[in-house]
Amino acid sequence: MKKSDNPFVLYGYWGKKYFCDRDVELVELKDHLSNGRNIVLYAWRRMGKSSLIKCLFAELDKSKIYDTIYIDLLSTQSPSEAVRAIALAVYHKYGKTGKGLSATMRKMFSAIGVTLSFDPLSGVPEVTFGVTQGGVPERSLYAIGQFLEDQKRSVILALDEFQQVADYEGKNGEAIFRNWMQEFPALRFIFSGSHRGMMEAMFTEKSRPFYKSAQLISLEAISLESYTPFIQKHFKSGGMSIAKELISEVYQWARGQTYAIQLICNYLYGRRRDVSEDDLHAITHNILDQENAVFINYQNILPANEWEVLKAIAKEGFVHSPTGQKFVLGHQLGAASSVQRAVQSLVRKEMVVREVDGYMVHDIILSRWLARLL
Ligand SMILES: Nc1ncnc2c1ncn2[C@@H]1O[C@H](COP(=O)(O)OP(=O)(O)OP(=O)(O)O)[C@@H](O)[C@H]1O
Ligand SMILES: [Mg+2]
Repeated sequence: MKKSDNPFVLYGYWGKKYFCDRDVELVELKDHLSNGRNIVLYAWRRMGKSSLIKCLFAELDKSKIYDTIYIDLLSTQSPSEAVRAIALAVYHKYGKTGKGLSATMRKMFSAIGVTLSFDPLSGVPEVTFGVTQGGVPERSLYAIGQFLEDQKRSVILALDEFQQVADYEGKNGEAIFRNWMQEFPALRFIFSGSHRGMMEAMFTEKSRPFYKSAQLISLEAISLESYTPFIQKHFKSGGMSIAKELISEVYQWARGQTYAIQLICNYLYGRRRDVSEDDLHAITHNILDQENAVFINYQNILPANEWEVLKAIAKEGFVHSPTGQKFVLGHQLGAASSVQRAVQSLVRKEMVVREVDGYMVHDIILSRWLARLL
């Protein structure tokens, strides 16, 4: 596939050239893996977890020491669906050889109840994952684990959006994966997820099965110091310029969130001219206007007091004490106790997130959009 000629990519990983920094994180990740440690990678949404894993895997693949397998669990709702996603990823990694499926892969598929058929015209084997005959997930994972352990290189599995597992029906998703991890100590795991609170709970609460079984890495924002030369370099190779001060404005507006920075830069670059302050304002307004249809819906979905509290937090940007007089009276939010309940509910819904010393709206674009309202 060919990349568009805008260097500020919004989806996927397109190579180191379009990937800003993360040098320290890459070293840390490699260090954990080469010393046999499993990893939990977590951050707020759209900071760059998935891209970092893809970048890491691209580098590790080149080293020819490891086989890397990336699995997105976002759309899975049960252990069997997770097994299906994992089996599919394993098939994509090892199954597509010219000679058809190997005997060991056939054995694994039959153990997990995946159907193998042959295309009537070409005779090419096809793998149907939809109709697993209700195989027991634990046993299926065991079969997959055995297959992976038998590979020549060591295998690293990234399970992205791992927070899904906590919501699986039956509530035993965590235990199943924990057992899997323990049964195959030679396999390396990267668990990545965006629900920070949940990720922390899964791995640090004593009662939870993942307690202390992996190294925690919290992915923070890329620094302005790294982003500035990255952005300037790409504008320059496109024959354009952007001042340092404007990049700093982009960074502040985006609250350091990688996606928002990329989005603004992508639009600015698309104008194909030296960037002015007016360009930046026009683009940020544009980005917010585009969200009108989606964001206005939140007003219908949320209870009235939560909507008001959300709006007030957005207008403040960051609120140290949401039950403090200044905030409650300043935004005419009524009783402090009801504000407290609204905040708790918004945090549960992950619309608001709690940092060490206060609260903010999780999605920076929503936050900027709300702050514009009356
Ligand atoms: N180091 C980077 N340099 C440049 N762009 C990046 C970098 N990391 C991520 N991006 C871009 O930022 C956006 C968000 O990245 P990504 O999808 O990896 O984040 P995420 O944390 O996995 O998000 P989510 O919580 O939605 O799963 C994407 O557009 C991606 O291309
Ligand atoms: Mg992701």
